[in-house]
Amino acid sequence: MLSHIGRSVKGNLRKAERLKQTMHVEIDRVTKIFGTLRANDGVSLSLESGRIYAILGENGAGKSTLMKILSGFMPADSGRILIDGQPAAYDTPAGALARGIGMLHQDPLDVHNLTALENFMLGSPEGLLPDRRTARKRFVEQVQRLGFVLSPDTYVDQLTIGERQQLEIVRLLSLGAKLLILDEPTTGISAEQKDMLFGSLKRLAREAGLTVVLVSHKLEDVEALCDEVYVLRRGRVVGHRTLPQPTSELVALMFGGDVQRAPRVPASRGSIVLQVRDLTIPSRRLVVHNLSLDVYAGEVVGLAGLDGSGQREFVRACAGLQAGSEGRILLDNRPVNGASYHRLASRGVAYAPAGRLEEGLVAGLTVTEHFALVTPGGLWIDYRAVQSVAEERITRYNIRGRPENPVQTLSGGNQQRLLLAMLPSRLKLLLLEDPTRGLDVESTAWVWRQLLDRRNNGTAIVFISPDLDEIMDYSDRIAVFCDGRVTILDDPSTCTVEQLGRLIGGKSA
Ligand SMILES: Nc1ncnc2c1ncn2[C@@H]1O[C@H](COP(=O)(O)OP(=O)(O)O)[C@@H](O)[C@H]1O
Ligand SMILES: [Mg+2]
Repeated sequence: MLSHIGRSVKGNLRKAERLKQTMHVEIDRVTKIFGTLRANDGVSLSLESGRIYAILGENGAGKSTLMKILSGFMPADSGRILIDGQPAAYDTPAGALARGIGMLHQDPLDVHNLTALENFMLGSPEGLLPDRRTARKRFVEQVQRLGFVLSPDTYVDQLTIGERQQLEIVRLLSLGAKLLILDEPTTGISAEQKDMLFGSLKRLAREAGLTVVLVSHKLEDVEALCDEVYVLRRGRVVGHRTLPQPTSELVALMFGGDVQRAPRVPASRGSIVLQVRDLTIPSRRLVVHNLSLDVYAGEVVGLAGLDGSGQREFVRACAGLQAGSEGRILLDNRPVNGASYHRLASRGVAYAPAGRLEEGLVAGLTVTEHFALVTPGGLWIDYRAVQSVAEERITRYNIRGRPENPVQTLSGGNQQRLLLAMLPSRLKLLLLEDPTRGLDVESTAWVWRQLLDRRNNGTAIVFISPDLDEIMDYSDRIAVFCDGRVTILDDPSTCTVEQLGRLIGGKSA
């Protein structure tokens, strides 16, 4: 009898707790600018208790930035967060959590020498000191309530990514999170763990009134879990829908299928320049598996895919920069596996990395010195001759800068022009990573005029880009990388941005 009363009191308490949990969070015209990039551009959205929201968008759309602002990791440049109609002024993650907003990061914290229980106790109001037995009881209860499988005594560094995630969720909830943000939580966890996670989140939303915000570029995850979706593109909210919706509708919003394409000048393909056979690149995660691809003289092959889908490793393997790849790579029918970058360069292969200043150019060296670097003979050469080469290229490539300017003082567009100006004029194979990253429309068009000139003169060009418009506009063929698999589209003109987006997002076209 007593225990029965106890239970009903507890039940009422829980009900009261649930009512108390009701919270309305509004993001109001949030803008965040990095340099010249508007990562968030006047973003507004509204989040109610008990509902599961998706923030959907392709890589670079601004999702993580927005969530870092919402969770106190980063200040906005302008705009506000409102909680229950009142402006919330927190500027740290702890401050956000005190207001009930907790975020689970893409890479959960590592506290190596602690057990799951110790990690759980850490950061709890009482700290590590108080009653371990009470904490253990609370931990086990929470884990069970959420339907997780997690032993309190396992050391954190022994846990899988999925288990660390569960631990982090348990911890955030016990610290009073009423709005839980999960940034790309299904990357690196098993299908089983994903089902468990989604099941728990649904129950938490329905039964405890938790607000869940799932940040994802994966349509299937959004469709499996969420009640509503906000679609972000280039820092702006381009759509807000209640789910379910036809997949094509979401893809169109994500990728902007409305864009009209200019007719492309077709390539006149020559002979095979590059043959890749059964290329496998083992790493912590399998990024390239049994990939075969032929690239012909005079064509542009665009490599599409989300960041980390193996495009970069593939290109670097072809450039002689990726150690430990298996399979065969032939250049003009001759095997070049394991050949150094310099040997490949002497055979007409060039590679331009995405990180212009980190990898392609040398900060501290001037424009002239860069031309000296790529002149045979190295730095022991006629400096005056190099100077005049530099002046001639500056004019020809329309670089806004002087020969004596250190490269780091040039703008991004001019650095990219310099990188292109430094490439040998006759190339068999040109490998490019994100050739127009950070460039304005005009510089992008200029870069592509130069590249298409080279293509028309017989150079084979392989490029990576996160920008689907760029891939569609300039590729004669497209290779889509997703989860270690590659799909080749031989005729991009028959493919829509929606189909491409779906392939990239891990759904078959
Ligand atoms: N700390 C930063 N400094 C400079 N640029 C950044 C920073 N964080 C993100 N960005 C840029 O802002 C854009 C949006 O990034 P992000 O919010 O991480 O996108 P998403 O999570 O949707 O992939 C990207 O172009 C990214 O390169
Ligand atoms: Mg992100």
